[in-house]
Amino acid sequence: MYYLIYFAYESSPFTPTGLEELLVQARDKNAKYNVTGKLLYVEGTFIQLLEGDKEAVKHIFSSIEKDKRIIALKVVIEGPAKTRYFPDWSMAYEKISLADINQMEQCEHPGVKEYLKNATPFRLIKLIANNPLL
Ligand SMILES: Cc1cc2nc3c(=O)[nH]c(=O)nc-3n(C[C@H](O)[C@H](O)[C@H](O)COP(=O)(O)O)c2cc1C
Repeated sequence: MYYLIYFAYESSPFTPTGLEELLVQARDKNAKYNVTGKLLYVEGTFIQLLEGDKEAVKHIFSSIEKDKRIIALKVVIEGPAKTRYFPDWSMAYEKISLADINQMEQCEHPGVKEYLKNATPFRLIKLIANNPLL
């Protein structure tokens, strides 16, 4: 099992239909390659976790890298993984607003503060994707 997290900016604003088309296309191909993960969309920035066999993840990622709908793509972290975090989804999707992020940052819960301070990108994406108040 291998995982890769990247972020990138939309080259021009996505419409709801554009996003829907992207998800249909992504889910279809990911299912074929047994790639799962999660796609976050935050104020024009995409953060995506891809997970699966290394060759499959690299293959999907090479298509994404060439995609003109996004710019300034940067890999945050990649490497071997023991398990899948999103085994049931071909690509879970969530739209997060800046207000959600600000709220997370302002959270007074000591656990959350500590978590954000020490968060590696992978832990951070898990936090964002699964449970903002973990
Ligand atoms: C933000 C973003 C995320 C994407 N995620 C995936 C994905 O998880 N899986 C996938 O197959 N394509 C994804 N795509 C679409 C690919 O970039 C590409 O268009 C698609 O895989 C078809 O590529 P192909 O024509 O080389 O087969 C994504 C595109 C964008 C802009």
